[in-house]
Amino acid sequence: MHTDNNNSIDNILEENRVFPPSNEFSSKSRLNKVDQLIALKNQAKNDPITFWKTFANSEIDWIEPFQTVLDSKNAPFYEWFKEGKLNITYNCLDRHIKNGRGDKIALIWEGEPGDSRSFTYKELLIEVCKASNALKSLGVEKGDLVCIYMPMIPEAMIAMLACARIGAPHSVVFGGFSSESLKDRLVDGKAKFVITADGGFRKDKIIDLKNAVDSALDSGANEIVEKVLVVQRTRKEISMKNGRDFWWHEILKKQDHTCDPEVMKSEDRLFILYTSGSTGKPKGVVHTTGGYNLWAHLTFKWIFDIKEDDVYWCTADVGWITGHSYIVYGPLSNGSTTLMYEGVPRPSNLGAFWEVIQKYKVSIFYTAPTAIRAFMKSGREIPDLYDLTSLRLLGTVGEPINPEAWIWYKDVIGQGKCPIVDTWWQTETGGVMISPLPGVVSTKPGSATFPLPGIEIDIVNKKGYSVNSNEGGYLIVKNPWPGMMRTIHGNPDRYLKSYWNYIPCEDQNYVYFSGDGARIDDDGYVWIMGRVDDVINVSGHRLGTMEIESALVSHKSVAEAAVVGKKDNLKGESIVAFVSLEKTYNSSSELIEALKQHVIDEIGIIAKPEKIIISEALPKTRSGKIMRRILRSLASGEEISGDISTLEDSSVLEKLRKEA
Ligand code: WTA
Repeated sequence: MHTDNNNSIDNILEENRVFPPSNEFSSKSRLNKVDQLIALKNQAKNDPITFWKTFANSEIDWIEPFQTVLDSKNAPFYEWFKEGKLNITYNCLDRHIKNGRGDKIALIWEGEPGDSRSFTYKELLIEVCKASNALKSLGVEKGDLVCIYMPMIPEAMIAMLACARIGAPHSVVFGGFSSESLKDRLVDGKAKFVITADGGFRKDKIIDLKNAVDSALDSGANEIVEKVLVVQRTRKEISMKNGRDFWWHEILKKQDHTCDPEVMKSEDRLFILYTSGSTGKPKGVVHTTGGYNLWAHLTFKWIFDIKEDDVYWCTADVGWITGHSYIVYGPLSNGSTTLMYEGVPRPSNLGAFWEVIQKYKVSIFYTAPTAIRAFMKSGREIPDLYDLTSLRLLGTVGEPINPEAWIWYKDVIGQGKCPIVDTWWQTETGGVMISPLPGVVSTKPGSATFPLPGIEIDIVNKKGYSVNSNEGGYLIVKNPWPGMMRTIHGNPDRYLKSYWNYIPCEDQNYVYFSGDGARIDDDGYVWIMGRVDDVINVSGHRLGTMEIESALVSHKSVAEAAVVGKKDNLKGESIVAFVSLEKTYNSSSELIEALKQHVIDEIGIIAKPEKIIISEALPKTRSGKIMRRILRSLASGEEISGDISTLEDSSVLEKLRKEA
């Protein structure tokens, strides 16, 4: 563990600007009075059971009602809304059709080479039912894990919902992950089925998803995966294995347009989603049906102050939790119009986001600070070319946002009139935990403001004691909440150790450790300072330094590797790897390129090291532990401070200084 991190704390300590919501915005908001918010928070704090029960009953349609709101018998393996039965796709689709929203647009899709499609709630339900029946015809049964490895096309959402409809948990793997990463996830989850596409369009290139699936199966997942369903997207030639691979369009066209939703228990698995931790391989975070449905629904409704005629756009990929909760389940559960975009901004299409906002009159826009910083760098001339007046609310997620980028976002994209919701949360939390409620909370640039009603947080030291205001410490959550992860797939011990046993607590048995550092200012505002473990955040993507190190070490030339994050003005952090070579190898620019490519092959393009420094030896303690603190200072060109007396061989430092 290290408590130092790369964020510009000085910057945020100086940040005192406060932006109350405008009367114009506030007067139309569902939640717009401070008293109202305080009452809600107090109610949640004083009587959480009634609080959650009331919302679970008013917001979610149950097939059979629950009796027990929260079962803490096996804490921290909490159970929510036990005995309750439901199907999340009923809440996301059928109920809106029953309530007269059948012809409302559920999904707008803007494709990368300029094609677009849209689906009303009725149309989306038909597609989901066809896909559900198709999965059943291939032999998918309730409880079977289905892996979805797709580009950002409507079929990705349809596939997720189809799985949920028939009670088969999904495991979505981001399309940018390599076949190796895909294989690990297939093997860990024992996924019997894969839904993929012939390929996807990404940054002027075609990514060969089906080929990656083939390689994953050839290299070890063959015995697990029985069938592969393939959506036609790029029409690039691929190989289809008889009896194993099936075309989505061929199977779907034979299917009935209706499929009854499977009756699911509240605690039945809805999905597994892999995310990086500080040790070992990525872990499969498990989310279940009832609690997740409520949390995705409620947070979406609160934070985006959603209105019937909103056109809402979240720019994440469905391969991440943000896509799960805030492209698919949250918006659809609320009967909203959600936009999905296949493209990624890049130098050849810098105005693409603004064009989409103008074209569809997007009213709520939710993106990552990295994207905002990139747009800021290319100048306001680009967004100024577009009509962005339809926007009424902006959001950010995934990494700390620096006040400069926050102000630019508000002024240039939000034309000064849109509130910003800076939302802090994690794959593990299922939905947003800390965020302003835009009609009532005054915002400070760079602060996620306050926890949502029902969420009790604290900032503590390693021993579990609260720190003083303005003092940095570990961000913990003190109470269970419905959208929380339930376990790590196949590794309940890791669930206990990483999250619940890390911080000791006197008055309560368990507190949830987030892995983030934070401070709370004198006004009670929360400022997230970034990860305090060996997880780095590159452009809002979570990566474990150990994963990248293992990838490097698996190359025949590498003896040892240590990976650190370096502050990056655009990406938040960038990856720097220190590598020592096996004796028979010499450093060369070709070898460095080969190592970078090796990491891409092992993990995916998002893990590509920005810099690889080949070194004769790495700084170690006498007990053989690599001193990352020193490497972090070297990577950022800072003076090495702190105690170096435990260093085994101080001459290593001199050599490293020259090499870095
Ligand atoms: C970081 C993404 C600062 C944080 C939803 C967390 C943030 C990790 C914010 C989770 C924010 C997320 N401000 N940092 N508003 N939101 N983070 O699991 O370090 O991909 O622990 O979930 O992203 O990343 P994950």
